[in-house]
Amino acid sequence: MSEKSFPEHFLWGGATAANQIEGGYLEGGRGLNLADVLPGGPARLKLLSQAGFDFEMDKEKYSYPNHEAIDFYHRYKEDIALFAEMGFKVFRLSIAWSRIFPLGVEQEPNEDGLAFYDRVFDELEKYGIEPLVTIAHYETPLHLIKEYGGWRNRKLIEYFERYVTVILNRYRNKVKYWLTFNEINSATHFPLFGLGFSATSDETRLQESFQGLHHQFVASAIAVKLAHKIIPDSQIGCMLLYAPTYSYDSNPVNVMYALEEGRVFNFFCGDVQVRGEYPTFIQRYFKENDIKIDMQQGDLELIKEGTVDFISLSYYMSRTEKKEKKAEEIGEGNLIGGVKNPFLKSSDWGWEIDPAGLRIGLNELYGRYQKPLMVVENGLGAYDKVEEDGSINDDYRIDYLRDHIKAMAEAIKDGVNLIGYTTWGCIDLVSNSSGQYSKRYGFIYVDKHDDGTGTLERKRKKSFYWYKDVISSNGKNL
Ligand code: BG6
Repeated sequence: MSEKSFPEHFLWGGATAANQIEGGYLEGGRGLNLADVLPGGPARLKLLSQAGFDFEMDKEKYSYPNHEAIDFYHRYKEDIALFAEMGFKVFRLSIAWSRIFPLGVEQEPNEDGLAFYDRVFDELEKYGIEPLVTIAHYETPLHLIKEYGGWRNRKLIEYFERYVTVILNRYRNKVKYWLTFNEINSATHFPLFGLGFSATSDETRLQESFQGLHHQFVASAIAVKLAHKIIPDSQIGCMLLYAPTYSYDSNPVNVMYALEEGRVFNFFCGDVQVRGEYPTFIQRYFKENDIKIDMQQGDLELIKEGTVDFISLSYYMSRTEKKEKKAEEIGEGNLIGGVKNPFLKSSDWGWEIDPAGLRIGLNELYGRYQKPLMVVENGLGAYDKVEEDGSINDDYRIDYLRDHIKAMAEAIKDGVNLIGYTTWGCIDLVSNSSGQYSKRYGFIYVDKHDDGTGTLERKRKKSFYWYKDVISSNGKNL
């Protein structure tokens, strides 16, 4: 690999989300949010596709790992020191909306919540680590979910604007890089996470999701405009769950089907947030699926004015499509659909591993938009073993990350303007889709287990030292 593949100021680092690391769910005046009512373990996965979840907790029946998570709320200093030791240039975290506005509807923010993130940003600054802040990462305040029906309700735009105005003003001198909605395009598959509602019925899921997305597009545009006004040198991006979509074979029927599925999933939200317009192809899709978007006067102008500065993406897997699928062909871990790809191996959770897909995706996105790109999530969820001598030899994780970094280097050589890479779950955390501790992504091991036991002690894995070397050599030593 050429020494020049990664640009000089490439942003190497790691990524997390408040609900998956902080814990302290009742501390500092924080209100409840979506993740607090999601059970740990297999019960969570079922909720993803099920309509009619009531957002109530049942502590007799389930555990709620996000309540304690990995206790970053109290241990952030230790964790940030470890990130600094690895040489992080950037750390992606989210602000928990319900720490700032516990119910979401208050007129005044919660000072304790604001002060917590001040402390975190100050600690990052101490080590010269740039924060990259996701404004909304699957953690809508519970009150907005239960009383308003989540993002289906247009009222959320107003509450979101209040929240965004407060955090942009408060952290104007501390945070330059912002992201609006995490994996915004995941909404059509799992409205629960991003839009904070459980569909009324399977039949109404698409209509409700696209309406919720429209509200988020308006909210995102408002956030972009506010960021540019309040922090003139800020960079604010969208965040897409990107899964390049392949045709299963050369049958044109399948090629067309893959194209149709792929563009709705991968490009619809990007087209709106980056180009500032609903793409033409979506009109036919809306018609055929009987989707009608309720828009207000001025929405489209706002969307046009509030386009993002850069595009960030998560990348875990590609998707392989075929028009007629038999049940046995469907990949078990393919949460966003598709059939098994015979050329790919899968992770312990059945997620297909495809480093080349990252190069393909980066080329597709850059070719379409010509905006700077940042990979803000990528990583391997795996079971780790602590050896008797305390070491954790996660060579499988190193292999996975190495192959993906090589793919990014190739994309840069292809001419893609890639500005950063934050691996997902740089420290072990609670998995989002399965609510497990045992699905580990980190360079840093956290002694905490699915049954709730563990000391929360942090340990450096083998990958910790490897990534440190990757960063210090700017991607040369892999
Ligand atoms: C992304 C989310 O979907 O993937 C993260 O933005 C999530 O919140 C990550 O944790 C990995 O998924 P999981 O289900 O393995 O935690």
